[in-house]
Amino acid sequence: MKEDEKSYARLYVDKIKAPPIRSIARFLQQGSKKGTAASMADKAARLSVGGVEVDLPVYSPTEGQDVIDVGKLTAEGYFTYDPGFVSTASCESAITYIDGDNGVLLHRGYPIEQLAEQSDHLELCYLLLNDALPNAQEKEAFVSAIKAEAAVDKRYQHAYVSIARDAHPMGTMCSMTASLSAHYHADLDVDSEEDRMLTSHRLIAKMPTLAAMTYRHSQELPFVAPRPDLPYGENFLNMMFSTGDDYEVSPVLARAMDRIFLLHADHEQNASTSTVRLAGSTGANPYASIAAGIAALWGPAHGGANEAVLNMLAEIGEPGNIDQYVNRAKDKDDSFRIMGFGHRVYKNYDPRAKVMQETCHEVLNELGVDNDPTLQMAQRLETIALEDEFFVERRLYPNVDFYSGIILKAIGIPTEMFTVIFATGRTPGWIAHWKEMVSVPYKIGRPRQLYTGSGFRDFVPIHER
Ligand code: SDX
Repeated sequence: MKEDEKSYARLYVDKIKAPPIRSIARFLQQGSKKGTAASMADKAARLSVGGVEVDLPVYSPTEGQDVIDVGKLTAEGYFTYDPGFVSTASCESAITYIDGDNGVLLHRGYPIEQLAEQSDHLELCYLLLNDALPNAQEKEAFVSAIKAEAAVDKRYQHAYVSIARDAHPMGTMCSMTASLSAHYHADLDVDSEEDRMLTSHRLIAKMPTLAAMTYRHSQELPFVAPRPDLPYGENFLNMMFSTGDDYEVSPVLARAMDRIFLLHADHEQNASTSTVRLAGSTGANPYASIAAGIAALWGPAHGGANEAVLNMLAEIGEPGNIDQYVNRAKDKDDSFRIMGFGHRVYKNYDPRAKVMQETCHEVLNELGVDNDPTLQMAQRLETIALEDEFFVERRLYPNVDFYSGIILKAIGIPTEMFTVIFATGRTPGWIAHWKEMVSVPYKIGRPRQLYTGSGFRDFVPIHER
């Protein structure tokens, strides 16, 4: 857009009298259940543009930034413009809060560090879905409900026959998850809380089964059925690697696997969660909406970064080459980036990366490979990047993907499966956001655009072109 095409609007936020609005969704529902914590302040913003002054409501959250409701601007002939949604809150949510400047991640108010240390993945799934930690009975009932849904219909075993052994596992997971939507559609009522919760249980339960089947298919190995006697992480590793009844999963690896799922469980309105919400906002089948989220996660700028980190470390080859690659990452004309570094929200250390790094040391020590050359390379790269002005200036730190791949590799999971692990871990977050959205009145997501194409012109018949 040319400089002379820009004009400027003036915006100031003041305590201009505005009706105090409680949670928007519950406001629309005329009366909240228990008063929502997101009580809306009585501030407003006044925007003056093109000789027009518009007062826009400002809502204050439980934690974090105020938001300006710009819904009225369309009537005034304006859209907001925010490619990549850098400054846009797309919805109201009570599930996860991130403070990027201070490296804080809360799930329903509980910090990720405490959850990683004291909780487990299924307990976090319960928390995300129910906004409360379960007591012993509730937890037992939830775990049983998940175990009851872990198996997939026999027809899925035949569906794999049509998939090439060397197909990328994320492509396979997209299609297998989408086929769940074909299976669970006719009798699914998204307006029924019971159906929404059953759908959530099914997805949390079946994703690890489909992930393990995807891996076994690629290795030409027979499928291993889920075992109700095994905890979530251990059951997944057993379905992946079992060689027979006497196969044993190391408790340290089982714990590490569960923690990796836990650390990936949810992360506010990231690209894949926003995709799930947008797809779900049309009333689409939730399993199909989750398949759309898997597709979005696959990209190397998002969940595909864990696979890209290992490929990058392999490409760098040895510590002596690190400086050359760091310089490439700083070169505007070079598309190379340090994968696993940087984040749209975290301008400080990603709290998950810290827990992942600790888990990395635990697993490698357990396996007796604490001098793993890949880990040493990653640590060297991290040290160099964190001391380099370019990274310091842009507040680029390791994110969740930087160390996860090293742990997964040490557990024996092939690089191409890393993002499948991420998708399996993220499923409770995706479906919790879908459930939060469809449980109250919601609008179909339909953004507008800044049109810079041709103005009106008449059609030209081909003989006149
Ligand atoms: C995940 O959103 C989430 O919550 C995602 C996630 C989740 O749990 O769902 O946390 C999971 O996706 C983590 C991110 C995984 N991706 C990567 O590790 C890929 C490498 N990182 C970058 O591609 C990048 O940092 C992004 C995509 C993560 C963030 O991109 P932004 O916010 O759009 O930032 P930007 O591209 O505008 O970069 C700002 C500046 C630029 O330089 P200048 O134009 O200012 O000179 O920082 C530079 C960028 O060139 N930069 C990097 C860099 N990341 C940003 N330079 C080198 N290496 C990098 N990794």
